[in-house]
Amino acid sequence: MFPPDFQWGVATSAYQIEGATEEDGRGPSTWDTFCRQPGRVRDGHSADVACDHYHRWAEDLDLVADLGARAYRFSIAWPRVQPAGDGAANPKGLDFYDRLIDGLAERGIAAVPTLYHWDLPQPLEDAGGWMNRDTAHRFAEYAALVADRLADRVDLWITLNEPMVVMAYGYAFGIYAPGKTLMLGALPTAHHQLLGHGLATAALRAAGARRIGIANHHTPAWPLGDTAEDATAAAAFDDLLNWQFTDPILRGRYPDLGLDLAHVRDGDLELIAAPIDALGVNYYHPTGVTAPAGDALPFTMRDLTGYPTTGMGWPVVPDGLHRLLVDLRDRYGAALPPVYITESGCSYDESLDDSARIGFLTAHVGAVQAAMNDGVDVRGYYVWSLLDNFEWAEGYGPRFGLVHVDYATQRRTPRASYAWYRDLIAAATP
Ligand code: NOJ
Repeated sequence: MFPPDFQWGVATSAYQIEGATEEDGRGPSTWDTFCRQPGRVRDGHSADVACDHYHRWAEDLDLVADLGARAYRFSIAWPRVQPAGDGAANPKGLDFYDRLIDGLAERGIAAVPTLYHWDLPQPLEDAGGWMNRDTAHRFAEYAALVADRLADRVDLWITLNEPMVVMAYGYAFGIYAPGKTLMLGALPTAHHQLLGHGLATAALRAAGARRIGIANHHTPAWPLGDTAEDATAAAAFDDLLNWQFTDPILRGRYPDLGLDLAHVRDGDLELIAAPIDALGVNYYHPTGVTAPAGDALPFTMRDLTGYPTTGMGWPVVPDGLHRLLVDLRDRYGAALPPVYITESGCSYDESLDDSARIGFLTAHVGAVQAAMNDGVDVRGYYVWSLLDNFEWAEGYGPRFGLVHVDYATQRRTPRASYAWYRDLIAAATP
């Protein structure tokens, strides 16, 4: 049984649904730039229109309300609020989120905004992006602008979404914007994002924020073989891609990465380790890890085999979520704040009769329940995603929505999984 105040929710992000990239004074983001570079996004898709949520937000909030969801996790587009990433706020940008949050309040839904879900203002990238320490300070300034306007109505702030993915996909492997291939040279982007989190946390508190957290991507390393080499590689993967993003916040230090941390300055870790009220966990699947094949990385990544797969080919491993939650509790003990599953979901084909998604979500909700039975303090579960949307470098191919979107007409049609989730929430809510 889930407690009556368990926060059932759904999640989206600005760039993936809003469209209207040139409206009301929004500035360009790194993703607008990336989409225009040939070969970066599958089939040359862009998010210029996406789900047109910027104009259809009221209809979309009705879908959240009709689900009975208690919380809606969305993101605020930095380039709408501060088009150049610096200086005064663009009032029209803030107005949009003001309306959205009022719309949530009218429908009795808790607002859970993420301040940075990957749409960095392009002028900041031109100055080095997250490789540049100054971006952390710009982020805190932006957070203050947003909080001054919205803090009175926000339930839970999420500072950053998946800083690991920004480092790895954005700056190390070049798969996501800004498309840099720095490999281990991307390490400072982890620290500068975490510093941004710490500075923004202070700014949010000063502006009266009630609760603050971060949404980290957790893809636990599962060694492929029983060898000591595979175990060492898996530990290195976990340190670099998982614990690097929680240890500084919850323990005030980095795991032993065996890498040069000259970019970490005195006092940074104290800022980063400021208390938070929630740890957001985005979980999709574990990663198979084996011994390194060359010098570039201390491990080799492999798809886990022997599991059913989603439409994107990702393995379906609900037990990985149960184990992860128990591992987090064991690793951090009393320092672990209440956990929210800030993303859990899957892509399948377009069909409305998505029994595979229902099976996936049933199993993952069950994994959360199992972890709670083991004593892990989980307070919420947000399905990724409310709507089909722009899946980054994969464009509009993957469909993650409880609600189908016909991109030609922008018609929304709830899938079978939407009715399933509505019934689950109703049954779990007194
Ligand atoms: C995590 C990201 O936060 C989200 O933007 C993305 O769409 C999902 N994973 C699915 O890949």
